[in-house]
Amino acid sequence: MRYYFLRHGIAEDTAEDDFSRELTARGRRRVAASAAVMQRLNLQPARIFSSPRLRARQTAEIVGDALRLPVSLADEVNFGFDLSDINRLTRDSRIDDEVMFVGHNPDMSLLVHQLTGVDASMKKGGLARVDLLGKQARHGELVWLIAPKVFDALSKSYAKATDDGAKALSLEQKLPQSDYPLHALIRHRWSPVGFDRGRGIDRGTLMSILEAARWAASSSNLQPWRFIVAPKENQAEFNKVLSVLREGNQSWAQHAAVLMIAAAHKYRGPDVINRHAGHDLGQAIAQMVLQALDFGVYAHQMGGFFPDKARELYRIPDEFEPYTAIALGYRASELDHLSEMHRQRESSQRERKSMSEIVFNGAWEQSADFLE
Ligand SMILES: Cc1cc2nc3c(=O)[nH]c(=O)nc-3n(C[C@H](O)[C@H](O)[C@H](O)COP(=O)(O)O)c2cc1C
Repeated sequence: MRYYFLRHGIAEDTAEDDFSRELTARGRRRVAASAAVMQRLNLQPARIFSSPRLRARQTAEIVGDALRLPVSLADEVNFGFDLSDINRLTRDSRIDDEVMFVGHNPDMSLLVHQLTGVDASMKKGGLARVDLLGKQARHGELVWLIAPKVFDALSKSYAKATDDGAKALSLEQKLPQSDYPLHALIRHRWSPVGFDRGRGIDRGTLMSILEAARWAASSSNLQPWRFIVAPKENQAEFNKVLSVLREGNQSWAQHAAVLMIAAAHKYRGPDVINRHAGHDLGQAIAQMVLQALDFGVYAHQMGGFFPDKARELYRIPDEFEPYTAIALGYRASELDHLSEMHRQRESSQRERKSMSEIVFNGAWEQSADFLE
């Protein structure tokens, strides 16, 4: 699902009561200009829910007019609007619905924070887009936050300002340009290098992430996977895994919340190689990565580490192969701590081979006939 959080526009300071405070003339003008930009951005919420307070309602109606959508007044969006209210209001929504809420602070800023972990200060007339990683999920991505000043600039010079705005939309370009629908978790997974240095992963979340790996399928249910897991709270253990990484990876992975080394048992029985060991470990990690993202935690897998050093430091027996290292953590909202190269990587588009290069039938490298 996708949520838009819109804080009402500039309103008069006083009125008979708080409920009837109207938008000022400037407030109306600015909301109208923002609404025109929303139209250009092709925002298409299935529903617009507004707080019944006059300033929010007027804001919602201006936007509703521009987007040609009716506005539903909802007491839930009044002061104290919270996640349980959102779940109630979107109970009947479909997973790919977009819903807009027009309300007040601190609720708008708090909700964006609770859903995404980002400290977003929503100005009057500001709009945040949060993509949920599932229906009624508790975690989402702040895809963008448009401050009223940016709306002003966009409406004045749309062509130029979209270019400026694009820099702020730092997540948009990471989403796949897929031709066919994808589950939100798959759509939003990617390998960041910008981790939030100040945010650890709580034990319950980490346990769920590991549990997801534990329940992966494996050849003959051999479950060849093993994980060395080092949360940052145990600095010595964390540094031990960090020391095993190649330098290029250390530079960004040091900011992760948890580091892991993933190894697989190479044998099915005495002297019988399990040729699916790597496959099964990869599958367990794939489950782990998607489960993590359901909690808003990103994973970055690494082949760039020294397996022999890991073997030595952890006394990993010969029958196990350390395949990868993994960094886990929440995404950073700013990237000042990264090198220019990593900052660029964080905003570069992701590329993939075409379907016809990877899906065959009839003969090897003959692209499958159903692709045309
Ligand atoms: C087995 C494996 C090893 C990887 N090794 C590294 C690595 O050493 N350093 C790194 O920065 N990224 C590494 N990556 C991340 C890939 O570069 C990344 O998955 C790929 O470019 C696709 O980008 P995406 O994950 O954002 O879709 C690795 C990924 C996998 C699955």
